[in-house]
Amino acid sequence: MNEKLYYKENNAEISNDEFLTTVYARKTPTANKLKKHGFIFACTKKSENEMLSKKIIVTGKQYAHKIFAVRDGDYVFLYNLDTDTLLGTFLARGEPSFDSSLKIFNGKYPYYIAVEPVSEVKEIRNASKFFNKLNISWRDILNENGALYLRSILDNMIFVSLNKEKLIDENYRPPIFSTTFWDYPYQSYGDTPKGNNKYPGVTPAFIIFNLIWRYTEPGDLVCDPMAGSGTTIDVCREEKRNIIAFDIVPTRKDIIQADARSLPLKDNSIDMIFIDSPYSDNIKYNPHPLNIGNIPATSEEFFDELENVMRECFRVLKEGKILAWLIGDQWAKGVFVPVGLKIYERLTKYFSPVDIVCVARRNQASNTPFWHSKAIKHNFYLRGFKYLIIVKKDSSNDKKIRKPKIKWNTYER
Ligand SMILES: C[S@@+](CC[C@H](N)C(=O)[O-])C[C@H]1O[C@@H](n2cnc3c(N)ncnc32)[C@H](O)[C@@H]1O
Repeated sequence: MNEKLYYKENNAEISNDEFLTTVYARKTPTANKLKKHGFIFACTKKSENEMLSKKIIVTGKQYAHKIFAVRDGDYVFLYNLDTDTLLGTFLARGEPSFDSSLKIFNGKYPYYIAVEPVSEVKEIRNASKFFNKLNISWRDILNENGALYLRSILDNMIFVSLNKEKLIDENYRPPIFSTTFWDYPYQSYGDTPKGNNKYPGVTPAFIIFNLIWRYTEPGDLVCDPMAGSGTTIDVCREEKRNIIAFDIVPTRKDIIQADARSLPLKDNSIDMIFIDSPYSDNIKYNPHPLNIGNIPATSEEFFDELENVMRECFRVLKEGKILAWLIGDQWAKGVFVPVGLKIYERLTKYFSPVDIVCVARRNQASNTPFWHSKAIKHNFYLRGFKYLIIVKKDSSNDKKIRKPKIKWNTYER
């Protein structure tokens, strides 16, 4: 029987609910409970006038993620780098937007948000000294206390309740990494949920945040074919990307039940794919017969099935677009399998390599003194990193759509 049909044919006997091992209580804070934040955006002598007269703050790719963290009603300040002057206070109005044809600034700064001064615009000169004194940078995101503190100085107001010490919200958005080593201490960030950190094998949300700001624009369509607890969905929604997510056993209503080897998507329809696939049979996601996570990585079948997923990703991805695959090696019962390298090898049969990122692992169950001492005593290693393999669909390169390699040991000379 065709394996892929198994689920459909047995629908009567197998329901998704049967496979759910956990009930996921998802707290969604309501908008009015979310705290305000403060954002300082840089400008120059030239752009200051244009921004002030048009009442919008614009930015380029470097700070696009920051402007998209601004919500209606947040505090906004403008920092003129040429004159070292801080201007404010403004309130953000409406949602941040992306418009690649934004006429002002010749389309150089397509990310923007409308603002309104709360009163007459005031300024602080020698702002860099002022920032140093407060131990903040204009690149930081301020918490509500920090935003009000800046506002109180600019507007000569006195708020007795303000605390000069805690001005920054360090975990509101993760950094955009510039090297191939990514390390962030938490699975989630910000004040809205991202996936479910009780889900076995949940993806750290900062990885998806980094990928979508590198490789997509607001409004693009991202796909996660193995969505688990839906971290990709939550990150994409917050960053104003469209998202379509599948899993063999959906844990939420916004995940569609499908096998990642045969997705209900048109050819060339997706702008970016993110996959955090099983790494072996080390985590019991669910007992679904098509769950690839029930096949051990010591068997070639595991890689053959993931190769079928890769082929499907190649089909649905638009030309020139990115697939990012998160994967870790396996060491179990004394046997090491370089899963990451084997996945890289299979991926590059279809896709062109873009880069490999080393993602530090921090929160796995084995990160305990007990396991650290066992690893040293018995001379093995705990997994310290994962591979984030970034590849591109590049059909112009004939080699990338070639058929599987000739097996030299059976090739007749
Ligand atoms: C590492 S988890 C994904 C974690 C997810 N990114 C999150 O943040 O929660 C891998 C997922 O692959 C799913 N999976 C396994 N085989 C699959 C298949 N053939 N098709 C679709 N999903 C599959 C599992 O059910 C599991 O949820």
